Amino acid sequence: MTIQRICCIGAGYVGGPTMAVIADRCPEIEVTVVDINQARIDAWNDADLSRLPVYEPGLDAVVGRARGRNLTFSTAVEATVASADMVFISVNTPTKTKGLGAGQASDLRWVEACARTVAKAATGHTIVVEKSTLPVRTAAAIKTILEAAQEDDQQRCFSVLSNPEFLAEGTAIRDLEAPDRVLIGGEDAASIEALAAVYSHWVDEAKILRTNLWSSELSKLTANAFLAQRISSINSVAALCEATGADVREVARAIGTDSRIGPKFLNAGPGFGGSCFQKDILNLVYLCRHFGLPEVADYWESVVALNTWQQHRIAQLVVQKLFGTVTGKRLAIFGFAFKADTNDTREAPAIRICGDLLEEGAQLAIHDPKVEPAQMARDLKQEAAAAADVLSGTGSWALAESVEEAVSGADAVLILTEWNVYRNLNWAELAGRMRKPAWLFDARAVADPAVVRAAGLTLWRVGDGED
Ligand code: UDX
Ligand code: ADP
Repeated sequence: MTIQRICCIGAGYVGGPTMAVIADRCPEIEVTVVDINQARIDAWNDADLSRLPVYEPGLDAVVGRARGRNLTFSTAVEATVASADMVFISVNTPTKTKGLGAGQASDLRWVEACARTVAKAATGHTIVVEKSTLPVRTAAAIKTILEAAQEDDQQRCFSVLSNPEFLAEGTAIRDLEAPDRVLIGGEDAASIEALAAVYSHWVDEAKILRTNLWSSELSKLTANAFLAQRISSINSVAALCEATGADVREVARAIGTDSRIGPKFLNAGPGFGGSCFQKDILNLVYLCRHFGLPEVADYWESVVALNTWQQHRIAQLVVQKLFGTVTGKRLAIFGFAFKADTNDTREAPAIRICGDLLEEGAQLAIHDPKVEPAQMARDLKQEAAAAADVLSGTGSWALAESVEEAVSGADAVLILTEWNVYRNLNWAELAGRMRKPAWLFDARAVADPAVVRAAGLTLWRVGDGED
C-alpha cells in the first residue's frame, strides 16, 4: 500500500506545519490541506510568505519550497477527501464549555463533523489518521461512523490510525524534521506500515513506534501531563524560593543535573499555556473520573490548579507591591503569546494575569512582536481603549507598537513571554521614561538583574528570594 495522495482536514497550527514538512520531505506525494475557513486558506496561499496564518520559525521556507509543487491549500474539502488515500484529521478540539463534561471533556463536534465528511466523500480504501489531540477512545467513535458508511457502500473501506502530534509551537519545524519519536497506533498492520513509510522518508526507523490505538491516544495525554506536571512542580518551588531566599534557577540546575530528572522543562514562569497542556490534563481527569478513579483524577487536576494559582499569584503580587492598588496606573505588558516564537495566545498566562489587572482598574499597554490586537481584544473580552481613562477607575488596555511606547509613563513593566527582544533591552533608557518608583516584574526571568537594578528599577523575578 503506497500513499500517493494525502488530504489533511484542518489548516491550523498542527495541520499546516505538519503537512508542509511531509510535502517537503516526500516530493512524490500530493499533499492537500483543506479547511472550511476561507480566510485561513487564503492566508496560506498568500504570495507574501511573511503573512501565513501561523507564525513559526522556518515555516515560510518549507512552505515556499513545497507550495505549488506538491503542497496545496484549498477549501474543496469533499473533492480532496474523495481522491485521497490517506486523510489526516487535524481540527480543533477545545475543552467543552457547556453540557456534559463542561470544563473538562473535549468538544468533539468538529472531529465528528470531519468523520461524517470522510464517511460521505471517501472512495475506495481510505486510511483515516487522527492527528488532533483527542481523548482516549475517540478513534473508536470515528471508526463507528466510518463503518456505518462502509455498510452502505461495500466499494469503500476504512482503517483508523492514531498518530499524535508532539510538536511544540515555536519549534514546530525542528520538532517535525527531527522528532524524538513518531507514534502510530492502530489495528491494521498494512495501514500502520503505509503511514510509517511516509515518515521513513526522513525519520529513522528506530524512532517510529507502533502501538495499539488506545496506547497511542493515552501516550499523548500522558506525555503532556508529565511535561505540565514538571512546570507546576517547579512553579510551586519558585513560590517557596521567593519566601525563603533561595533562587529557583539554582535549584532547577541542581536537580536538573540528576540524570534521572534531566534539565528540560524546569523553567519557572507565569504558568503553562498553549492549546494542549491544560486541555489534555483535563481530558485525563475526565477519563479517570469516568473509569471510577477519583484519586487519580484529583492528582492530575492539582497540576492545573497550581498553574491557575501561579497566574493569580503573580497578578496579586503586582498589586501588592504597587502600594495595594493599580487603579488608574499604567502597566506595560511585554509579551502576550503563550510562549516565544508563536502568535498563538490560547491559554496564554497573559490572558489571566491581564484579566486580573484589568479588574483591579489598571491601564495596560500591551506589546507583543507577533500577536494581533484583534486577538488580544478577543482574549481580554474587551476592545482596546482609544485613550487612557484613568479617572473612571475601570481597567482598559491599548496596543503599544514598541517597548518604548509601552513603558512611557508606566509604573511597572511585566514580562510575560520570553521573546528574545526582551532579553537585552536598554533598561536605563526605558527606566527614564517611567514614573518613579518604577518596577520590573520579570515573570520569565529573562532580563539581566544587574542591568535592571543599575537602571534604578525595583526588580521582582519569579522564584527569586532576593528582594
Ligand atoms: C506542548 C508539548 O510540548 C508538545 O509536545 C505537544 O504536542 C503540544 O503541547 P506547546 O504547548 O506548543 O507544546 O509548547 P511547550 O514548549 O510545551 O510549552 C507549553 C507551555 O509551558 C508554555 O506556556 C511555556 O512557556 C511553558 N513552559 C515550558 C514553562 O513555563 N516552563 C518550561 O520549562 C517549559
Ligand atoms: P490546532 O492547533 O489543533 O491545529 P486550530 O484551531 O489552529 O487547531 O486549527 C483547526 C482548523 O480546523 C481551523 O482552521 C478550523 O477552521 C478547521 N476545521 C474545523 N472543523 C473543520 C471541518 N469540519 N472541516 C474542515 N476544517 C475544519
